[in-house]
Amino acid sequence: MNLIAAVDRNWAIGLENRLLNSIPEDMKFFRTTTMGKTVIMGRKTLESFPGAKPLKNRRNIVITKDAAYEKEGAVIVHSVEEALAAAADTPGDEVYVIGGESIYRQMLPYCDRAYITFMDHAFEADTWFPDLSADPDWVLFSESQRREHEGIEYLFRVYQRKNTISD
Ligand SMILES: NC(=O)c1ccc[n+]([C@@H]2O[C@H](COP(=O)([O-])OP(=O)(O)OC[C@H]3O[C@@H](n4cnc5c(N)ncnc54)[C@H](OP(=O)(O)O)[C@@H]3O)[C@@H](O)[C@H]2O)c1
Repeated sequence: MNLIAAVDRNWAIGLENRLLNSIPEDMKFFRTTTMGKTVIMGRKTLESFPGAKPLKNRRNIVITKDAAYEKEGAVIVHSVEEALAAAADTPGDEVYVIGGESIYRQMLPYCDRAYITFMDHAFEADTWFPDLSADPDWVLFSESQRREHEGIEYLFRVYQRKNTISD
C-alpha cells in the first residue's frame, strides 16, 4: 500500500482540520495519482473535503469509531483492521492512505511507498506526518527538481520501505 501527503519542512500536514497550503500542481498530482484507485482516510479528513463529500471516481474507505456513521459514496469501517479487509481485494499498489495524522501513523506499518510533496516552509500546524527521514526503515527513493508557487518552494519525493527495494 501507498501513502500520499503534502508536508512542510517539519512534516506538518494540517491546521484546524484544513490543509496548510494549496499548490495547484500538487492538487493535480494527488488527483491523477489516486484517480480510479482505493483511498483510505480518517473521518476528520473526509469532513475536511468540500461539502464533506467523498472523492469522485475513487473507492473511498473511511475509518470512524461511530457505529452509526453513514456517508453516501463511501465504505465506512470501524478499525484499521476493517479498513485493511475492505481493501484486501485491491492490489496493494492501487491503495492510497490519504490521511490525516492518526491514520498515517496507524497505517504506516502496512505501507511500502510514500508519495510526499515537500514544501520548504514552516507553517503553523496541529497535525504531522511521521518523519520518514528519521525512520531507519525508510529511504528517500527519488525526488523531483524544485518548483515554486506563490513564494513557496516545493518538490515531489518518493520514500520507499528499505526491505522492499530490489537490487
Ligand atoms: N497534508 C496532507 O497531505 C493531508 C492529508 C490528509 C489530511 N490532512 C490534514 O490532517 C488533519 C486531520 O488529521 P487527524 O489526525 O486530526 O484526523 P483523521 O486521521 O483524518 O481522522 C481522525 C478520525 O478517524 C477515526 N479513527 C482514527 N483511528 C481510528 C481507529 N483505529 N478506529 C476507528 N476510527 C478511527 C476517528 O473518527 P471518529 O472521531 O469519527 O471516531 C478519528 O477522530 C487535517 O488538518 C487535514 O487537513 C493533511
